[in-house]
Amino acid sequence: MCGIVGYVGDRKTTEILLEGLNKLEYRGYDSSGIAIKSQDNIQIIKSEGKISDLEKKVENSSLIESKLGIAHTRWATHGEANETNAHPHQFGKVTIVHNGIIENERELKEELINKNLIFKGETDTEVAAAVINNCYQKDPIEAITKAMELLNGSYAFGIIFNDQNKLYAVRKDSPLIVGIGTHENFIASDIAAIIKYTDKYILLEDNEIVELSQDGVNVYKNGKKISKKIEISTMSIEEANKGNYKHFMLKEIMEEPIVLQRTINKYINKMDDIFDVSNYDEIHIVACGSALYAGMIGKNLLEEKANIKCITECASEYRYKKVIYDRKTLVILVSQSGETADTIAAMRKAHECGIETLAIVNVKTSTIAREAKYQLFIEAGPEIAVATTKAYLLQVAMFSLIALKAANKKGLEKEYDDILQEAKLLPEKLKKVLNDKNIFKVVGKELMHKDDAFFIGRGIDYSMCQEGSLKLKEVSYIHSDAYQAGELKHGTISLIEDGMPVFAIITDKKIKDKTESNVIEVEARKAQVYTITNDKTLKTHHFKYVVEKISDYFQPILIVPPLQLIGYFTADSRGLDIDKPRNLAKSVTVE
Ligand code: G6P
Repeated sequence: MCGIVGYVGDRKTTEILLEGLNKLEYRGYDSSGIAIKSQDNIQIIKSEGKISDLEKKVENSSLIESKLGIAHTRWATHGEANETNAHPHQFGKVTIVHNGIIENERELKEELINKNLIFKGETDTEVAAAVINNCYQKDPIEAITKAMELLNGSYAFGIIFNDQNKLYAVRKDSPLIVGIGTHENFIASDIAAIIKYTDKYILLEDNEIVELSQDGVNVYKNGKKISKKIEISTMSIEEANKGNYKHFMLKEIMEEPIVLQRTINKYINKMDDIFDVSNYDEIHIVACGSALYAGMIGKNLLEEKANIKCITECASEYRYKKVIYDRKTLVILVSQSGETADTIAAMRKAHECGIETLAIVNVKTSTIAREAKYQLFIEAGPEIAVATTKAYLLQVAMFSLIALKAANKKGLEKEYDDILQEAKLLPEKLKKVLNDKNIFKVVGKELMHKDDAFFIGRGIDYSMCQEGSLKLKEVSYIHSDAYQAGELKHGTISLIEDGMPVFAIITDKKIKDKTESNVIEVEARKAQVYTITNDKTLKTHHFKYVVEKISDYFQPILIVPPLQLIGYFTADSRGLDIDKPRNLAKSVTVE
């Protein structure tokens, strides 16, 4: 949530900052701003809206000469998304950008107002700037250390002091890295923002303060200088770019066979050495958004195939509810970013209760990756589009492998070796499905003028419906809901009317006849039925797409990508900003 970039060096500071913001725009994009510093002056330029709006403002401004600056792209939490509330915020000698939430903002603000301080906007960040300013005499490290004692909540701050020619930063429960260049240094919410200039970075831990000048980086903890390891990023510049694709979302869907190959190759023969879930009596799968829906497929496979009791819960509920741990339980956290605040809190709750955790995560340097007891890393590479596609698919693939290995361990899978062989062929099979993308483009065109859609299925098919429905609504803004096919008639069927698109997912042969009869019910009410199935004998309604029938463990991997493409092409037909859907952010680092 919110992206931060900071620079100190000889290049054109504004260019570096704006380039960085463009790479971080997926983290939030309702307003943005930069602050650049010359020897004795700080210039702040802010704008409501997209980074392109800020760029226009910067172009039309006369800029001061600067070797030092901070920048921010915002996903509003405290206060409306307008120019006043956009970052950077300045208070006295302190100018800051912030990612996170200051939880005791109200009390702090009241105290400061009682001391006659005046605030311009409604953000917690302006209050944090005032707190740091109040703590500042002449030593920035001392001021930040004191302010940290007063500020509760989560933060990554980039900080400039009027009378210092260095850049400062600190983090707690919010991601921030330090990029190490040659005669230049950076801070950023993630490496994509600065990979064009350096692949060397330091991972800042909670409560570590960093001081950056053009030729040096010092990290402090508890007031003392500490040494840090320099990491090398494996991200390539191409991975962070769109290439010839119109949108990152399409690029990332089309990358699915390659990343699937990478992930399967990595784990197919090694999963047992790395992790064995068959040791546990109960599994709690906890995640948010698409990651939760991937987990629901996992639950289905773990229960049906490996006979392990499993619950799924969204992290924002799990973190606060009474959880009964009365068996040998494993908590599996699923997260692309590894920084989702609710998922982190759920993980920490499990740790406090002495429960073991396994993270299925993409970003290896993330908080969840570092804190979970065990880790399985999917190999998605950077995912830039806000709506996840390739990372979701790999989360599903990881659950398929986990369930398959557990079923085998328990002696429940007789066709284990054949299924493993099939897994190796999966990327090729998926390629074939994706080669049919123009079929889904036609579906997208049909949907572009619709207001509502439903997705129906039973069992594991229902879990796929949830992701298909989420994809459609988040990028195309068409209202869409997923229902267990048998449940629709208990109320929701009243919404079905002439021409309403209903997507039916039918792969599970045990219940396919049941779902078919629900399809007939909605068709009788004039719904326009689109079936995605692995059974070519099924009746064709308005539209049918048949994928190859493969092992149950892997079937979702051929079914969900068509749904992702339908969401994409519908949004594209509507001319929407697909990679940055309104109100969303990719990495939700606040509650
Ligand atoms: C946000 C994104 C979703 C994502 C969810 C969980 O809501 O828009 O696409 O599924 O967060 O993110 P995570 O990084 O934990 O997988």
